[in-house]
Amino acid sequence: MSDPITPRLLRALTGETLERPPIWFMRQAGRSLPEYLELRAKAADFISFCMNPEMAAEATLQPVRRFPLDAAIVFADILLIPQALGQDVWFEAGEGPRLGALPDIAALADQVEASTGRLANIGETLSRVRAELEPERALIGFAGAPWTVATYMIEGRGSNREAARRFAYEQPEKLDALLEVLVDATARYLIMQAKSGAQALKLFESWAENLAEDVFERIVVKPHAAIVERVRAAGVTTPFIGFPRGAGALVENYAQGSPVECVALDTQASAAMGRRLQAQGKTIQGALDNLLLLAGGPALDARVEQLVEQWGGGPYIFNLGHGIMPATPIPHIARVVSQVTGKSVKAAA
Ligand code: CP3
Repeated sequence: MSDPITPRLLRALTGETLERPPIWFMRQAGRSLPEYLELRAKAADFISFCMNPEMAAEATLQPVRRFPLDAAIVFADILLIPQALGQDVWFEAGEGPRLGALPDIAALADQVEASTGRLANIGETLSRVRAELEPERALIGFAGAPWTVATYMIEGRGSNREAARRFAYEQPEKLDALLEVLVDATARYLIMQAKSGAQALKLFESWAENLAEDVFERIVVKPHAAIVERVRAAGVTTPFIGFPRGAGALVENYAQGSPVECVALDTQASAAMGRRLQAQGKTIQGALDNLLLLAGGPALDARVEQLVEQWGGGPYIFNLGHGIMPATPIPHIARVVSQVTGKSVKAAA
């Protein structure tokens, strides 16, 4: 039997089927909470907010104070890695991320060793949160997966990623070299996060869609596998959640080729496919439509029940298929948390 204090999330990640699934939400911090907006207004810009352990720890804890969630995810961003490797990153208010010109790969490679130290404040945020968080709740660390981070580095902003996909065909060696740099920097960063208190590590591959099978293997599956292997080689056994969002039928290739403990599924994942992954020994996470959470009503209640029913017979973590939308009504979040946990949750806005 598990120690009663082992967080429910970690029990699910080690393959246990629980009487009710653990629950947390992608992008639970910072999107819709008024207390976040108040805190955010005190920081000069988003990157300084992420790099301020006191403020970032507070933002990490806000959603778990409000709701009885089973995990907190460290408040940071996937674009801190390119910044730490020497590419300029900033956020245009109301628009999203912007990056300066892509440096030479050799120049980026030169910065890998120093990059982890430049991200030491994220480790400090993790230690602060772990010290405050109740023992039954897990703390999740994360990084962007190499291909997703590379799309921003190549295109300089969020986009339809056509230029990055073209780059994968036109300059395959350069892309592979960039991914290798990112594997190295990301593995070091995640090892640091685990040593600072992260109990699970998530790789956000937010843009895994529209890739041909062989390209998917080369730029998604292999780099994920390399990161997990690097982290394990350092003696870190912290479980991984891999999230190949948009991969469609290739999710099964991902599950075969990537040694993550848990595969996070997006909104389109079928019940049968999720069960096949569970039968192959993977924990699964997902996959409530973030727009249904925003919309609410009887369709939301019914889908939550259906997800728990279809996947709760195996190792399963309840979550969304993509991050919370900023306009999501707080009572809808409260209702889902209450439905999944059986706990009463105040719905105050
Ligand atoms: O709550 C959490 O999940 C923890 C923190 C977190 C943020 N970003 C904070 C953030 C996490 C896990 C991320 C991951 C992230 N960042 C992803 C992968 C997940 C996904 O949604 O696909 C991506 C693609 C990014 C890059 C990024 N950061 C974009 C495109 C934007 C702008 C638009 C947006 O999503 O809000 C950001 C900014 C960002 N990251 C904000 C927050 C709270 C908003 C900035 C602000 O408050 O000023």
